[in-house]
Amino acid sequence: MRKLWGGRFDAGDMDRKVLDFSTSLNVDKVLVKYDCIATKAHVETLARAGHLSSGEKKELLKALSSLLVMVEKGKWEASGFEDVHSAVQSYVESRAPRAAKKMHTGRSRNEQVVNDVRLYSREALSKIDGLIGSLQSALVDLAEKERDAIIPGYTHLNRAQPVLFAHLIMSYVEMLSRDRERFREAFKRNDVCVMGSGALAGSALELDRVFTSEKLGFSDISSNSMDSVSDRDIMAEIVSAAAIASVHLSRMSEDLILYGIPEFGFIEIGSAYCTGSSLMPQKKNPDMLELIRGRSAGVISALNSLLILLKGLPHTYNRDLQEDKKPFFEALFSVSECLQMMAGIVPTIKVRRKRAQEVMADEFIYATDIAEYLVRKGVSFREAHDAVGGIVKYCCEKGINISDLSIKELKGFNRSLSGDVYGLLNPASSVKGKRTQGSTNPKMVGREIAKWKKKLAKKG
Ligand code: ARG
Repeated sequence: MRKLWGGRFDAGDMDRKVLDFSTSLNVDKVLVKYDCIATKAHVETLARAGHLSSGEKKELLKALSSLLVMVEKGKWEASGFEDVHSAVQSYVESRAPRAAKKMHTGRSRNEQVVNDVRLYSREALSKIDGLIGSLQSALVDLAEKERDAIIPGYTHLNRAQPVLFAHLIMSYVEMLSRDRERFREAFKRNDVCVMGSGALAGSALELDRVFTSEKLGFSDISSNSMDSVSDRDIMAEIVSAAAIASVHLSRMSEDLILYGIPEFGFIEIGSAYCTGSSLMPQKKNPDMLELIRGRSAGVISALNSLLILLKGLPHTYNRDLQEDKKPFFEALFSVSECLQMMAGIVPTIKVRRKRAQEVMADEFIYATDIAEYLVRKGVSFREAHDAVGGIVKYCCEKGINISDLSIKELKGFNRSLSGDVYGLLNPASSVKGKRTQGSTNPKMVGREIAKWKKKLAKKG
């Protein structure tokens, strides 16, 4: 295989072992489409600067277009090359041998690989943006469908206060909207063309960088050729957004897994997303959620790998940087797959209201509501907290519920407690009683659902 750098070396092919060890083709072949697109823009730039005749330009563009067609049809295969850039060069040489000798004029693989990854990322990020939007829409639909269902809310994995199931679901919509913003921010910083940076110092040829950038649809060109070929912070930033999103999906999975097991039993997940046990006939396991939770480990590792790879690398390009792509592609693939899977699972979720109601018949979950009731009657919060704590302790010892206590007994704990307190001891009153913005009050949750429906419809 002809190398892109043979001249300085003695004749003879690269040792097979060395090639096998150093090739990145298996990983960077996913960049072939972008390498062709970027090379076409480079060819146009070269022609514009007078380094290619219009005949040569046509020949090269034709060869690159035919490679693109093969790639799109899934018919492109290559092996034995150092990397995707060498493979593309070799293909063009086979189609336009003379013109191909000029194709690499004024550019380096150091900038090429950065540019290809940026083109790849633009598409990958747009796809992820859409996937997050779809998952958010599925969540909003579920919240709307189950808008009056109430479940126990937890802190420290202990029953805390009743919440609308829709409130929990809408909390995921919020969390995902921040993920979406993070990816969008990264998109902006990624949307910069580095071509014209050369190996590290730029080029002595008159290459119109703005022209190349516009051809490729980038918003801007980079300002420092050394930075352009050496940094990988955009990749780290994208993977960091992916890692945070994966952790979010993992936490959401954990909630759904927990709420689905019989010990909680508040929701049911569609059987299509569960599997059985080869041994235990009764099992219906939420494997897809467990896999989403598990896959986040790989995305976190990808971020770790990238940062460790970069730390301590001198400017500018070092071959170590080739190792950035595997974790990068894997992270983006994984987060996209998990988003898609979660968007499939969400519409199959059903709330088991009766079970939730049974759990909330244990009235300690309304303790905070009683304390705030007392505060509304002018009792200091500390006093109120102590009084209700006393009620809970007493009921625990007796093995009874709060509503089993008579008004007289209740007044023994605080004089301001009166008959209307019994009306607080049910899930509906508890959620309706919330007054702050962003609370689980059904009116406020309803408004949030409406707001997000509108927002998501606009974004498409
Ligand atoms: N495969 C290489 C990478 O991913 C492409 C750049 C190679 N540059 C070089 N000077 N060897 O980093």
